[in-house]
Amino acid sequence: MGSEAKTTVCVTGAAGFIGSWLVMRLLEKGYVVRATVRDPDNMKKVKHLLELPNADTKLTLWKADLGEDGSFDEAIKGCSGVFHVATPTDFESTDPENEVIKPTINGVLSIIRSCAKAQTVQRLVFTSSAGTVCMREHPLPEYNESCWSDLEFIYDKKMTGWMYFASKTLAEKAAWKAAKENNIDFISIVPTLVVGPFIMPTMPPSLITALSPITGNEAHYSILKQCQYVHLDDLCNAHIYLFEHPKAEGRYICSSHNATIYDVSKMIREKYPQYNVPTKFEGIEENLKVVPFSSKKLTGMGFEFKYSLEDMYTGAIETCREKGLIPDSTESHANGKI
Ligand SMILES: NC(=O)c1ccc[n+]([C@@H]2O[C@H](COP(=O)([O-])OP(=O)(O)OC[C@H]3O[C@@H](n4cnc5c(N)ncnc54)[C@H](OP(=O)(O)O)[C@@H]3O)[C@@H](O)[C@H]2O)c1
Repeated sequence: MGSEAKTTVCVTGAAGFIGSWLVMRLLEKGYVVRATVRDPDNMKKVKHLLELPNADTKLTLWKADLGEDGSFDEAIKGCSGVFHVATPTDFESTDPENEVIKPTINGVLSIIRSCAKAQTVQRLVFTSSAGTVCMREHPLPEYNESCWSDLEFIYDKKMTGWMYFASKTLAEKAAWKAAKENNIDFISIVPTLVVGPFIMPTMPPSLITALSPITGNEAHYSILKQCQYVHLDDLCNAHIYLFEHPKAEGRYICSSHNATIYDVSKMIREKYPQYNVPTKFEGIEENLKVVPFSSKKLTGMGFEFKYSLEDMYTGAIETCREKGLIPDSTESHANGKI
């Protein structure tokens, strides 16, 4: 699987925040990419993919849904690699079991079966989540790949995004078992909060959280309280790096920075004083420690992170402003909400 072999790969959830940037980087590297989306005819959702450099010769769109067994068979048949990025990310779902949890678990299992049927797939890369690692009653001083979230705590506490954390934890666990049974070379990448400039046309789900001090979306403050971050470009480069690395195996945390909600709010306030970013967050003490996620396993293999936390936030804010997804200022809003 050397980088000289420009092979065909499938990217699921290709129109999304991470998927579209990953497709861009794969096309740049000369890969032939099969991008799966739920609605290939919806130009609003796929135009940014079709306009990518090399898309006319190296990109094809394939219709597939995580909720339909066998849906990915055709797109995966003949591919040497699969990046399974798709996941339902609706934190506001009114039917979390059927809209988020079941499709996430059944989707990855269906994709593993598609890989087994294809017999061409040399590696399946699963985009997992920090939500599979750190959701527990008593936080650990540091997290690594051996840590798993406590499902009982997630279902009990029902914190913001609980259905997403549960879905990813159950899906990754089920995937490890199924990949072993089907003899699939499976690796998982565990990103923390992904922030940065982007090409998808609508508000990326992770920026609803990351930019909540600007938008005043208080439900997301608990996630930012003691959070960890990775730049979108670093994350996508890590996906390709691990796909191509002959010795990659197991889980890989991919996280470069740790910060409290006070750290990021101060950074945004200094750079963008026109946003009415709070200086105090009710119920969140000020002298919090950062909680690190260790990427030592990834960096130990030779991967290098390129971006700072400021790069992530300025990239995200500038792109949101250009696309009209956040206002130019929030000064006129007395309570900081928009
Ligand atoms: N962003 C982060 O901070 C972060 C952090 C950790 C892990 N992750 C993981 O990264 C992956 C991508 O997340 P993202 O931030 O890029 O989110 P996103 O922009 O919402 O992308 C997710 C994509 O999944 C697709 N999808 C949703 N439900 C589907 C279904 N039933 N069948 C097929 N496709 C479906 C959507 O495709 P359509 O275009 O068809 O609607 C969407 O484009 C996810 O696995 C997520 O768990 C993200």
